Amino acid sequence: MTGDKAFYVTTPIYYVNDAPHIGHAYTTIAGDVLARWHRQRGEAVWFLTGTDEHGTKVERTAEDHNVEPQAWCDTLVEEAWKPVLETIDASNDDFIRTTSGRHRDGVQRFWEQLKGTQYVYEGDYEGPYCVDCEEFKVAADLIDGTGKFAGEKVCPIHGRPVEMLSETNWFFKLSAFSDRLLEHYATNPNAIEPQSARNEVVSFIKQGLDDISMSRSSVSWGVPLPWDETQVVYVWFDALLNYVTAIGYGAREGSPEAEKFQNTWPANVHLVGKDILRFHAVFWPAMLMAADLPLPETVFAHGWLLVGGEKMSKSKLTGIAPSQIIDHFGSDAFRYYFLRSIQFGSDGSFSWEDMSARYTSELANGFGNLVSRATAMVGRYCDGVLPEPGAYSNADLALQDAMMAAIERADAAMVQLDFATGIGAVEEFVGAINIYVTEQEPWALAKDPASADRLRTVLYVICEALRVVAVAHHATMPKSTLALWGRLGAEPHLGPLGEQPVQDAGRWGQLPPGAAVTKGDALFPRLEDPAAAEKPSSE
Ligand code: ME8
Ligand code: MG
Repeated sequence: MTGDKAFYVTTPIYYVNDAPHIGHAYTTIAGDVLARWHRQRGEAVWFLTGTDEHGTKVERTAEDHNVEPQAWCDTLVEEAWKPVLETIDASNDDFIRTTSGRHRDGVQRFWEQLKGTQYVYEGDYEGPYCVDCEEFKVAADLIDGTGKFAGEKVCPIHGRPVEMLSETNWFFKLSAFSDRLLEHYATNPNAIEPQSARNEVVSFIKQGLDDISMSRSSVSWGVPLPWDETQVVYVWFDALLNYVTAIGYGAREGSPEAEKFQNTWPANVHLVGKDILRFHAVFWPAMLMAADLPLPETVFAHGWLLVGGEKMSKSKLTGIAPSQIIDHFGSDAFRYYFLRSIQFGSDGSFSWEDMSARYTSELANGFGNLVSRATAMVGRYCDGVLPEPGAYSNADLALQDAMMAAIERADAAMVQLDFATGIGAVEEFVGAINIYVTEQEPWALAKDPASADRLRTVLYVICEALRVVAVAHHATMPKSTLALWGRLGAEPHLGPLGEQPVQDAGRWGQLPPGAAVTKGDALFPRLEDPAAAEKPSSE
């Protein structure tokens, strides 16, 4: 039995050399919002995240802490990486660890198979290596160090000295794939996004690709080469395979795992930070070509969260833990803020003040206050029962049009990973409802018995408009929209919020008169003076 091809979205698998910071959370919430949006379009979705546990960086970190690497990884995964998924409200369908048996078996099977081709051969490697990147470098990649590294060549991303390697290991014939990669990117303009990332990759490939070591003889923490147990698979050529090993690559034909692979691969979107674009847009597709596997549809390289103008990073200890922000603002506001305020694909800086300002104006005063006012008025004027609307005025019809336009704009933008525009379209619609409320003055209508019919219509229009806000903001803010769905009394009539198809959300009149509307606590409570609140230090 084969089902529909799933919409398959992945995040990078993160190194467990330290606990997650908001940079990692950023990629994961982007994947989560995309996954939830596609689920709500009625698609089968598979959303994968996980941890990258092998290699020198993790091995040395464990050593520094005087524990075995496996014990180190187990602790970090269970105590730091998995819990943060709860903190940020991620709905991943699976979590892959590169130290798991399913991954190790798949990696060995993959390379065993390529060993029999012209693409894997034995050779000598000599050159610089950045342990923070876990990457073989060439002299041209490096820059002059500053401060305590003055006089040394350092990695441009991490600012730390590289190490000189000299070892005999196995090579992957990357050079054989330049032309096919260029052709692939010429015929599939959306295979790398944004376009600036695509241009960068294309010009990199045009300079010519060198073969690259696929194994390491001087590293022991990794997946042993099936044909030479004294060497391990180079950590990137182990890690990249997570995207296929997690969904059953290499499983016996006819098994449920093999069927899962058939129904899931290729990935629709690999989300990555721009720091790891080349691995995903050069090495990875070349590996897949060598193995005759289909290529991912899109690799999307997003920008960096910056601290003091530089990439926030574990190795520079500039990371802010997601909980430092979420404890104060809540997970919905966190998800909303990062995707709404930074154009996906560009760099952005986090600032506590900016986040407080948006929280207050867009979530507490804009969205939350509207919900409180609307539900309170239905309570006060209609005993909490959603009234039957009468004839619609031009203003009502204009709001209905705005609603249809907002959901269409949101859908078009979200499927393109333009989260800022998609979420912005919904936020602007919230603004339009607020203006409608101000102009229609239901509190004034309530004072005049002759306006009772008009009052009922206005209240209905507001609540029905809020139904769409719940649907359209659900992927971004799962918790507060669920609360709103409850306040509107929608569930008994329309079913669960997560099952409301976005394509049909703009159809007017779905919330039935008679629904039980209730006022609860503020969706986004006003926060204390942000200056008085404790700010996380980024030092
Ligand atoms: O590179 N801004 O893992 P990693 C935005 N294990 N995103 C950031 C960020 C920042 N300041 N810092 C980290 C690895 N990220 C490999 C990946 S995949 C087969 C193997 C996010 O722990 C962003 O997605 O260094 C970046 O690409 C990723 O974390 C790197 O995480
Ligand atoms: Mg990194």
